[in-house]
Amino acid sequence: MRSERRRLWTGAAPGANPFALPRGLLGPAAGLLMARGNRVQNAEVLAYCGVGPQDDVLEVGHGPGVLLGMLARRARSVTGVDPSPQMVRMARRRNAAAVRAGRVRARVGSAEATGAPDASADLVVSVNTVAMWPRLDAALDELHRVLRPGGLLALSWHLSPESFTLAPDERAALEAALSRRFGASSTADLRHGALFSARR
Ligand SMILES: C[S@@+](CC[C@H](N)C(=O)[O-])C[C@H]1O[C@@H](n2cnc3c(N)ncnc32)[C@H](O)[C@@H]1O
Repeated sequence: MRSERRRLWTGAAPGANPFALPRGLLGPAAGLLMARGNRVQNAEVLAYCGVGPQDDVLEVGHGPGVLLGMLARRARSVTGVDPSPQMVRMARRRNAAAVRAGRVRARVGSAEATGAPDASADLVVSVNTVAMWPRLDAALDELHRVLRPGGLLALSWHLSPESFTLAPDERAALEAALSRRFGASSTADLRHGALFSARR
């Protein structure tokens, strides 16, 4: 299985995989499956990050918007970006009341180009997207830029099924790239996802 996988962070756009970039006829179905399948992992990441009412949060690759809703109940402000217009629409619908109240914003953007101002986030969080980013270094530069000093970057990626997990060399490459920008990084294998984090 591992040998069939594409190499990560080579600059190549995600292929036709509807979970990597939901679009077309399969996009909405992929969004619904992600909303169900990733909910516990999203909740686990939220618990790990310890979000509070003083925090401005940016979620990168929010997909159907489940974590945006969880964040909205705790944070001061929540902004989501996702390159899939379908997912932006789905996330806005899922969180319609919070969007109307101005507590959640969702717009098209990516890890490499969030459109967020410099030093505007206390937490940047992303679940099950890091292996889909075309360019790891460009994305980490961007996320470092938008974090406030002391702010936390938290990236969670599947721990199961085994065919989805990061290979040891991919984990090491991610940890090294984080350490280059942030000075240090830490990795914790939680119940549902591997959590890579670094503080600006
Ligand atoms: C597997 S889904 C995960 C969605 C959501 N975070 C969750 O936990 O259910 C991957 C998401 O990453 C988004 N994505 C793809 N490329 C991206 C990039 N370069 N930057 C940010 N998000 C990206 C996709 O559009 C998709 O919504």
